[in-house]
Amino acid sequence: MVSRVIPVETFDLVIFGGTGDLARRKILPGLYRRFWSGQIPEDARIIGSSRKEMDDEAFRAFTRAAIEEFAVDGAGDKAKIAEFLKKLSYVAIDALGENGWDKLSVAVRPGVVRAYYFSVGPSLFGAIAERLHKHNLADDDCRIVVEKPFGHDLDSARELNATLAQFFKETQIYRIDHYLGKETVQNLMAIRFGNVLFEPLWNSQYVDHIQITVAETVGVEGRGGYYDKSGAMRDMMQNHLMQLLCLIAMEPPSKFDHDAVRDEKLKVIRALGDVAPHHIVRGQYLAGDGNNGYREDVENERSHTESFIALKAQIENWRWAGTPFYLRTGKRLKARASEIAVVFKEIQHPIFGQEEGHHRNILSIRVQPNEGIDLTVTIKEPGPGGMRLVDVPLDMSFADALGPSAESVPDAYERLIMDVIRGNQTLFMRGDEVEAAWAWTDPIIDGWQARNDVPKTYDTGSTGPVDSEMLLQRDKRSWREIEP
Ligand code: BG6
Repeated sequence: MVSRVIPVETFDLVIFGGTGDLARRKILPGLYRRFWSGQIPEDARIIGSSRKEMDDEAFRAFTRAAIEEFAVDGAGDKAKIAEFLKKLSYVAIDALGENGWDKLSVAVRPGVVRAYYFSVGPSLFGAIAERLHKHNLADDDCRIVVEKPFGHDLDSARELNATLAQFFKETQIYRIDHYLGKETVQNLMAIRFGNVLFEPLWNSQYVDHIQITVAETVGVEGRGGYYDKSGAMRDMMQNHLMQLLCLIAMEPPSKFDHDAVRDEKLKVIRALGDVAPHHIVRGQYLAGDGNNGYREDVENERSHTESFIALKAQIENWRWAGTPFYLRTGKRLKARASEIAVVFKEIQHPIFGQEEGHHRNILSIRVQPNEGIDLTVTIKEPGPGGMRLVDVPLDMSFADALGPSAESVPDAYERLIMDVIRGNQTLFMRGDEVEAAWAWTDPIIDGWQARNDVPKTYDTGSTGPVDSEMLLQRDKRSWREIEP
């Protein structure tokens, strides 16, 4: 299978925070990969910007190093890199002052798609938006891209939305949740709404429960200052896991269009019930395997912030009443593995005499790594000895099924940046969605603070605190293995 690359129209992309970590690891190498694959037109321009004084050549050298280190494909293609670097220029700008804005006004072209990527802390969003407006850089056709965290609670998210709304329409604001750009996450929608097989069974009548796991082996990776104020709930659950939950649980949208999809996701978030304290487990990793423990990593020996969270959520609507959703995410776990597992109910009337509860169909969607789908079905064990049943996987790895085109799928950021240029907001969060997600999260966090809740500890390389296993055992269920 050959992947089809449809070129986008020409654009000017300004990256505020152009010399920061996200630009170095993801945005610049991602843009190069899209250029290398033929998607970015010759006359597109990329303008890096930050407070740092540097000239175009220094920014190009920075970008070249970033590509060589982080671009998977094309990183050795020196001629192509040189061609790409010609699109780059740099303007030093003081986001909180007036320096540099006039230069930027000259650098961007009127009449082409203009996108401003706010790869900076949320405290600068308002200041940048205001100056773009003041310097006539914010016309009706331009777009802004904002990174998470989008606020740290409902009030701050509302405030941010209101600030941005003074200068931009909602249709111009692209709030990134990079999980939505992951190939398998988009495949979730294809699996549900492109097959006749699953949708009739996709409800509490047939689904026993759903598990969503996003497990990481990394620790807080030098981001202790930020992370200790966030924790797994704000850093992962409120956004990435919530988005996965929405896609798995939403009603079929009438079409694959930005508002139709986001309306349905919003309904899921609003239907989430309160989570009882005994349905939540928080954890902190201990030192092990030569790594620090959480508290050393964040340099706060009294920290009560969680690096692991597991919870049982309920969606209070007709489709899902009575079907629990178990969600967990954590750092320094056994393996890097993200999976969504739809565990179907047992058959109602077993005729083969097998033990009750033994056989179930499970549809597992492996988000990363080793992206693919796995459907467990029950068959007869081969050979004599009567009707003995066994569960076997119908396993499909995207790489095996689709060949090289699956291996070189665009990274989430690449895909999302191209969607910004195309003006497609389907895979971005709308303001009301973000607010609804905080409205669900806030009381949970407030409850911990009020009770002075202390996270349980767990070993590095484990599956999280023991209590997380008990959360499911109490319901006579168990977590799926965390395996790559
Ligand atoms: C980020 C979080 O949004 O997602 C990080 O801030 C986390 O803490 C990362 O490590 C995980 O992303 P991915 O794409 O590696 O699963």
